[in-house]
Amino acid sequence: MPVIAIIGAQWGDEGKGKVVDLLAEKAGMVVRFSGGDNAGHTVVNPYGDFKLHLIPSGIFYPRVVCIISNGMVINPPVLIDEIDQLNQRGVDTSGLFISDRVHLVMPYHVLLDGLEEKSRGGKALGTTGKGIGPAYADKAARVGIRAGDLLDKEAFLERLRSILDYKNVILTKVYGVSPLSLETIYGQYCQYGEHLAPYIRETTIMVEEALTREELVLLEGAQGTLLDPDFGTYPYTTSSSPLAGGGCLGTGLSPTKIDRILGVFKAYCTRVGSGPMPTELKDETGDLIREQGHEYGTTTGRPRRCGWFDAVAARLSTRINGFTGVAITRLDVLDALPHLKICVGYKLNDQTIDYFPSSVATLSRCQPICEELPGWQAPISHIRDYKQLPVEAQRYVARLEELISCPVNLISVGAAREQTIHKMPIL
Ligand code: IMP
Repeated sequence: MPVIAIIGAQWGDEGKGKVVDLLAEKAGMVVRFSGGDNAGHTVVNPYGDFKLHLIPSGIFYPRVVCIISNGMVINPPVLIDEIDQLNQRGVDTSGLFISDRVHLVMPYHVLLDGLEEKSRGGKALGTTGKGIGPAYADKAARVGIRAGDLLDKEAFLERLRSILDYKNVILTKVYGVSPLSLETIYGQYCQYGEHLAPYIRETTIMVEEALTREELVLLEGAQGTLLDPDFGTYPYTTSSSPLAGGGCLGTGLSPTKIDRILGVFKAYCTRVGSGPMPTELKDETGDLIREQGHEYGTTTGRPRRCGWFDAVAARLSTRINGFTGVAITRLDVLDALPHLKICVGYKLNDQTIDYFPSSVATLSRCQPICEELPGWQAPISHIRDYKQLPVEAQRYVARLEELISCPVNLISVGAAREQTIHKMPIL
C-alpha cells in the first residue's frame, strides 16, 4: 500500500481535515508533519463536529495509528486538553503517538509571539499568536526543547535553566516585561511530561514498520503552500514547510516513498492574516462567500479574506509540490453566485505575467486578469455523482482542472464525509 501526502495548496484552511478523515478509513497510519496549534482541521463525522489543532485527523478510526511527528511543534497543555476533549466525546486516543523529536512550544514562545507582533506595529504578520514562529526559530537556533527532553528531568532542568536565562534577558531588556519563573515552568512541564510520556516514541521506526506491513500511510499537511517560508508570500508566511517535501523531512521518510501527492484546493481563495492576495474581493461578493462558507478562522475566529480562484498561484503550488491529483473543496459555497471568475494571469505595470512573483512588494502590485464563467445558481450539496452536477459547475471544475494541470480526484460539496463526489480514484 502506498503513501499519500495531503497538502494544502493555497493559504491554508482548504479542508485538509475532511479529506484526511475520509481517506483514513482505509489507512493504517496518519502522520501530521508540520505546524502546531496554529492549525485548525475541521472534521464532521458520526462522532460530531471537531476542530483538531494538533491531533491527526485519522484519530476517529480506532485502528489507525496517528503520529504527531518531528516536523511539528506542540504546546503540551493544548495537546493534553485536546486528548481529554476527544476522550470525553467517546473518541479513543490510544492509537496516538508523539515523536520524541517534536519541539515544544514553551510559555516564552507564546509571550514573544505577541510581543514581536506588537513591536511590528502596522507591519504585523497577523500570526495566530500561538508561539509557532518563536518555537521554530529556537529549533533552528538550536535552543529548542523536544518532547524527548521531558523524559530526563535532570537534563531538562539544566537545559531549561540556560535557555530561560537568555529568554528572560530578552523579555526584560528588550521588551521591558517581567521575567518568567524557572520553577513554575519546570514544574508545569515535568507534569506535562509525565502525562505525555506513554505517547512519546521513536516514530520513524513505527512509520517504517507500517510500510513493511504494506499499510496505507497518509501524511497530513497543515497550513498551505503559499504560507511556506521559502515559496510563500515571505515574510507573511508561517515557519514550517507545508509542502510535500516538508512531509519527508517532517516525518523522517524518504522522498522515494511518497506515491501520491494530493493537492487540496478550495474552489475559491481565502487567506487569514496579513500579506498580499491578488484576487481578494473587498466587496459584497467577498462578503457573500465569507458568509456562505462561514469563512472565519478555526483557531482565532478572525474573518478570512475571500477572493476568486487564483490559477497563477495554483500553478506554483502544483510545480513545487508535484501534485498527482487534486481535491476541490467547498464547491457548494459558490452555489448562489451568478458569475464566477478565475484569475489566469497578473497585470504588472504594463505587462502580463503568468508566474507568482517571489517578492511581496511586486505581488502587491499585481492586478488579477480574470476569465468569467456562468454560475449554476442551484444547490449541489446533495449531489454525489459528478455527472449530476449542473453543467456550469462541471464546466467550472473542468476549467480548474485544466489550469491546475492535474486530474481532480475528489470534489467536496459539504462538511460531512458523505458530501463528497469521487470523480476519479486516487490510487
Ligand atoms: P503563525 O503560523 O501563527 O506564525 O502565523 C503566520 C501566518 O500564517 C499568519 O498569516 C496566519 O494567519 C497564517 N496561518 C498559520 N496557520 C494557519 C492555518 O492553519 N490556516 C490559515 N492560516 C494560517
